[in-house]
Order: sequence, then C-alpha cells, then structure tokens
Amino acid sequence: MQWWRDAAIYQVYVRSFADGNGDGIGDLRGVRDRLDYIAGLGVDAIWLNPWYPSPMADAGYDIADFRDIDPVFGTLTDADALIAEAHERGLRVIIDVVPNHCSDQHPWFQAALAAEPRSPERSRFWFRPGRGPGGDLPPNNWVSHFGGPAWTRVTEPDGRPGQWYLHLFASQQPDFNWDNSEVREEFHGILRFWLDRGADGIRIDSAAILVKDPFLADADPQAPPQAPHPYTDRDGIHEIYRQWRRIADSYPGGRALIGEIWLPDPHRFALYLRSNEMHSAFNFDFLAAPWDAEALRRTVDETLAAHAPVGAPATWVLSNHDVTRHVTRYGRADTTFSFADRRHGRELDLVLGTRRARAAALLTMALPGSVYVYQGEELGLWEIEDLPDSARQDPMWHRTGGADPGRDGCRVPLPWSGGEPPFGFSPSGGAARPWLPQPGSWRDFTVEAQSEDPASMLELYRAALRLRHDEPSLRSEREPMRWLPAAPGVLAFRRGDDVACVINLSDVPATLPEHDSVLLSSDPLEDGLLSPNTGVWLRLRRD
Ligand code: NOJ
Repeated sequence: MQWWRDAAIYQVYVRSFADGNGDGIGDLRGVRDRLDYIAGLGVDAIWLNPWYPSPMADAGYDIADFRDIDPVFGTLTDADALIAEAHERGLRVIIDVVPNHCSDQHPWFQAALAAEPRSPERSRFWFRPGRGPGGDLPPNNWVSHFGGPAWTRVTEPDGRPGQWYLHLFASQQPDFNWDNSEVREEFHGILRFWLDRGADGIRIDSAAILVKDPFLADADPQAPPQAPHPYTDRDGIHEIYRQWRRIADSYPGGRALIGEIWLPDPHRFALYLRSNEMHSAFNFDFLAAPWDAEALRRTVDETLAAHAPVGAPATWVLSNHDVTRHVTRYGRADTTFSFADRRHGRELDLVLGTRRARAAALLTMALPGSVYVYQGEELGLWEIEDLPDSARQDPMWHRTGGADPGRDGCRVPLPWSGGEPPFGFSPSGGAARPWLPQPGSWRDFTVEAQSEDPASMLELYRAALRLRHDEPSLRSEREPMRWLPAAPGVLAFRRGDDVACVINLSDVPATLPEHDSVLLSSDPLEDGLLSPNTGVWLRLRRD
C-alpha cells in the first residue's frame, strides 16, 4: 500500500498545536484531543515534529533519548495512544527522526566528554584537535547553519582546554560520525523501535548531510552561497538509506521514509528516491519559488522530470516550521524564500498575500504527488514578525545576535476559539501563557471563527482537501498532468480526463477553458472570468 504517493499530510508542530495540561506548551494530550479536527480536514496522515526527551536548545531537534517522549509533551503511553487513535480515524502517523546529531545531554556525548581523545566514545562524534598555537582555532572553517563556527572546544576531564567537536547546527547538537558502525546500528534499532510501535512513516531530518569528509577539509570560501557544502551529499550516504529501506520494507502495511533534503541539483536529489532508498522527499524548490507563472511552471516541470526516471512521487509544500509563513511571503514584493534573507519587517500586504495563498492552495493540491499542510496555514495565519526579543527562543536568533530573526514567527501557538489569547490553545483556567505570545488580531482567525464561514481560509482548505480526496483525477498521482494553453501569467493544466486547474498570476482577469462546472474557486469568479491572484478547479467536458 503506497499511501505516501498521493497523501495529504498535516504537519503537527506539537509545542504549538494544542496544550492539554495548561502549561502553555502544546503536548500529546492536546493532539489527541484534536485528532477529529485533523481528520475532519480531509488529510490522510500527520507528521509530528520531534517529541523526544530534549533540553530544547533547538525546539526538540536536540535529542537526549531517541526512544522516549519528553515529559513536556507526555509519555510513551500517550504516544502509543496517539498512534492508535490516529489509526482509528484513518490517519497515518509520521514521526521525525534526527540522525545527523543528538543533544549534548545524550548519554553517548556525555560519555565522549568524559573519555580520552581518540577513545571509542569520542569516535561516535567528530572530535579533533584545534589548529594554531595551543590548538586555539577550530579544526576547519565550517560555519554552523545557525551562525557562528561549526566547532566548539571542550574542557578535558583534567581541566585543560582540549579537543573541538563538530556541530553543523547549535553547539548543543553534536554531529554523529556516520562512519562509525555503532552509530549506524543504533539508528537501525531506533527505526525498529518506532516502526514496532506503529509509526507509518519516518521523516528524516537533515537527510543529505550525514556523511562527512573524514579529512574535514576547509570549505571553499569563494563558493557561491547555494553551492553544496563539503558535508552535503557525499559518497556513502546512499548506502545508509538502502539499509533503512530494507528495514522499513520488512514491516507490513507500507512504511514510508521521507527525506528532508536541501540540494540545489534536482537530479542529485532524485538519487535519494531510487526504488531501494527513500520513498519520498520534501520539494523545497517549490516552497522557495516566487509567485510568478513562469517560475512556478518551470519548478513543477523540473520537479516532475527529476522524479520520473526514479519512479518516485513528487511532494508539494508551501510552508513548514523553518520558513516564513507563505501568506507573508506572498504579500511582499519579493515572494521567494531564502534562509539567507527572511525579509522580516519589510513592506507587506497581507490582503494580497492571503489572496495568493488561497490560490496557491488550489495549485498545490492539484499537482500530482503528495501535499503537505503546515498547521495554521489552513487558518491563513501569517508570520509574527514583531515578537518581543525576550520571547524569542530560536537558536538562529541567538547565534546570529539577532541578525536572523529565526523561526519563532511561524511557530506561534494556534488560535482555536474565543476572543483573546490563549484562544483555546490552553485549557481555560490554565495558569501559564502560551510559550510564544499570540497577536490579539487572531481572534478573527480561530478555528471557531472560521468554521462554517464559506469565505474563510479554513473552509477553503476543507473543501479543497475533501475534493482532492474524493476526485480520482485530482488525487491519483498516476493521473497525468498536462499543461493547457493559457494567457501570459496564467497557469492552466488538466488532471486526468475531466478536471482542470487554472491559476491567474497576472494582473488582468483571465478567461477559463470550456468547462461543465466550477468545482471550487479560491475567490468568486467575476462575470465568468478569473480575477488576478485567483485559482479555480473546473470539471471539464469529457471528450
Ligand atoms: C531541520 C529541521 O527542520 C529544523 O527545525 C532543525 O533546526 C534542523 N533540521 C536541525 O535539526
């Protein structure tokens, strides 16, 4: 059962979804209580961000124990119940596994700190002597994705300044050495642990950067910013996923491996999706593409062309917990996304961004493959860019001294109901405030406020996801997609025999191809024309 080929997957960022125990932080109780809401959206699966015991230096992507649940989120019993209750509602469950690094509080890293240089304990990580007099300089010039050097120096057990260890993210996230067979076997055990508990899929964090050059050569300082780093996509990485695939395929019911792979070359990207490796991977080119018909068409064509030779399904994503919410992105003059420049605080037209986001939802859900919905996008939530500095928690913000606003703005807890914070995020009477402050203007964007309002983003998502689920032409990934002739700035394509999607990205109204009926439109048609920044699904006349 290859459910991942055309699934609609709802991303649950647990700490911001719903707080069941009133401590201001989302938890598994909160997710369990709202599974009916998720199932009611018409999605097929949920992906939960990391839920493991963690000091939360990177919101749970710093894992201290890969086989348990953080007490802030609940217990292993809650996780088992959540998986069972999701299954009862026909929802598959994808969990997040982070193989590139762990927490500095993980027992293996603590053992490494207590051990000698060149010891077996240290060889599970990347410990090296420093350069320069006294070894005071990092072993190479690599920088962390969160800013600053990718190396931190340790104090040896005898109190002397000692070796350095590699961390491609925060200093509390030491990188594992994947040349070490103990690391490989440990992760085989972790995969089995969660697959045995009923996980239907594994989202593999930072999947392309596990294998490092053992010589740890300097990165070329002249390389263009988009060039892959010396630790990205190295020989040997595919063998890791071939082994993982054998494990996943040994379970019944179809268990999916889904990679988080940021690679500029679509063909190298597709190599991870060969039939004996991952089943699917996130398509970030689409997420970063501007609101421009030509650019989007090119991205769609390149994506489908790269996936076709390996027989893998494409994925379509507009937002996630790492990037600027797309209502905001589409409301700016520059509608691309880039980690190098989040553009927070620049001029923004939220009405325009919302209108485009509505049309983009119809585009995304009409493309062949699987589609991801990041919690809150179905409510039309925007990036919160004016969080007080004291509230910010993202290590990106801290490690860049505030130069990069980081990702807190897309992680603000969801508004469910009521007229003031916490908007039903925490149970009434809960003493604590949500872990990030919600804006008062979200009173009009709660699930309660939007439900049954046919003009709301929520009802658009519900209608679109239901139609996508029920219409074989839209849903089945094997139904061909063919571009239709269209005016400049208009994207029009056919799915299967009888459905068309038309998106007007130009600034003049567009005519529609001949059709029997309108299945859904992101905003009302005007005199039969498609207004700028509007999308529509049409039932075509069968030939
Ligand atoms: C990618 C995750 O999506 C992000 O949130 C995290 O900070 C890094 N990997 C490091 O684990």
